[in-house]
Amino acid sequence: VAKDGTKRFSLTMQTGQAELLPGKPTTTWGFNGAYLGPTIRAIRGDRVAMRVRNQLGEPSTVHWHGMRLPAVMDGGPHQMIEPGGTWSPHWIIDQPAATSWYHPHPHGNTAKHVYRGLAGLFLVDDPAAAALGLPSTYGVDDVPLILQDKVLDKNGVLREDPKPTWGLMGDQILVNGVYDPFFEVTTTLVRLRILNGSNARMYNVEFADRRRFHVIGTDAGLLAAPVTVDRVQLSPGERLEVLVEFAPRDQVVLRSVAGDNGIDEGDYELLKFVAADQLKPGPSVPQRLAASPRIETPAGARERKFKLSGSDAINGREMDMTRIDEVVPAGASEIWQVQNPVYSHNFHIHEVAFRILDIDGKEPPAYLQGPKDTVFIPRKSTVRLAVQFGHHTDPKTPYMYHCHILRHEDEGMMGQFVIV
Ligand code: C2O
Ligand code: CU
Ligand code: CU
Repeated sequence: VAKDGTKRFSLTMQTGQAELLPGKPTTTWGFNGAYLGPTIRAIRGDRVAMRVRNQLGEPSTVHWHGMRLPAVMDGGPHQMIEPGGTWSPHWIIDQPAATSWYHPHPHGNTAKHVYRGLAGLFLVDDPAAAALGLPSTYGVDDVPLILQDKVLDKNGVLREDPKPTWGLMGDQILVNGVYDPFFEVTTTLVRLRILNGSNARMYNVEFADRRRFHVIGTDAGLLAAPVTVDRVQLSPGERLEVLVEFAPRDQVVLRSVAGDNGIDEGDYELLKFVAADQLKPGPSVPQRLAASPRIETPAGARERKFKLSGSDAINGREMDMTRIDEVVPAGASEIWQVQNPVYSHNFHIHEVAFRILDIDGKEPPAYLQGPKDTVFIPRKSTVRLAVQFGHHTDPKTPYMYHCHILRHEDEGMMGQFVIV
């Protein structure tokens, strides 16, 4: 923290050697280390200043996925950092508590840069959320889980052979970059902040003993009240916060089970939980959570339509860095309809928070009714989103919207909008 109260963070994109398989060094990329990056933490109202250095051999960017900020600070493909260069964005955190993240966004190369290990969490806290008394001791009862899949050969070499349609997708699941991980539970209630940080893989997450757990937050903030479930689905880029109850000596595996979305979703063990003989009593699951009103659109709200075509275009057009596709008035609430005629995709919008109004005319599952920035769109279906745009105007610098299956994003399933 600087004298003027600014919180300063320094990130260096670098290459390194990580032990992704036991005893085998893998050449990887990371922020301030060999693989992944530090968890950044800030409080609503903070002024943050980043210093991002690129020590890779090629240009890249760092995008703050989930952050509400001016377009020039967003870290999309227009804010390239050359090799050896530094980029210093700064902004005031003005959004509710949420689990956000950061990752590269160079147009055409995002898949490769993320797959090699460049990603980290960016947690936003706020006083209203803090007053709920949720578990919040980082790494003890407030635990991030970054889910990623890799192909590692027997020598530990990270393979980059893209699969047809989906691109880089592996059968080796890592959690926070760790192979065959376990977590020692020491409290009766644990909060997990789950990020699907994979390039394309979907996860259908449940406990092997089918215990129920409580979803408390979606991408962009807390739900109005906890929703009890026995399984959740996360597509790439999505986050969920959940609360899980444990008893002494519990041993249970968190796993992902096969689904039917047409994306190769297998059965995988994610993480083993091993509870101590005695657990420190945690808080109970609260009845109510977010105080912030849900995102509504006024009568007569502007409606925009997007049709995902093939694996590389939106409304029949591939991404063009020089074309502005949509112009949105500052502070607007709009309905965005996204139609997906063929394969499964998902859809992420920079800068905004949205609520899923419906999926093929039906209400989304209760646990997905919180504020979001990324939504899964099953094949042959249409979603409607109530989108709340921010107030940072800039007629020249666009934000992106795109499929977060990174190969599709790289191939051009992305568009640009400005806020004016
Ligand atoms: Cu997570 Cu445009 O990205
Ligand atoms: Cu984003
Ligand atoms: Cu896609």
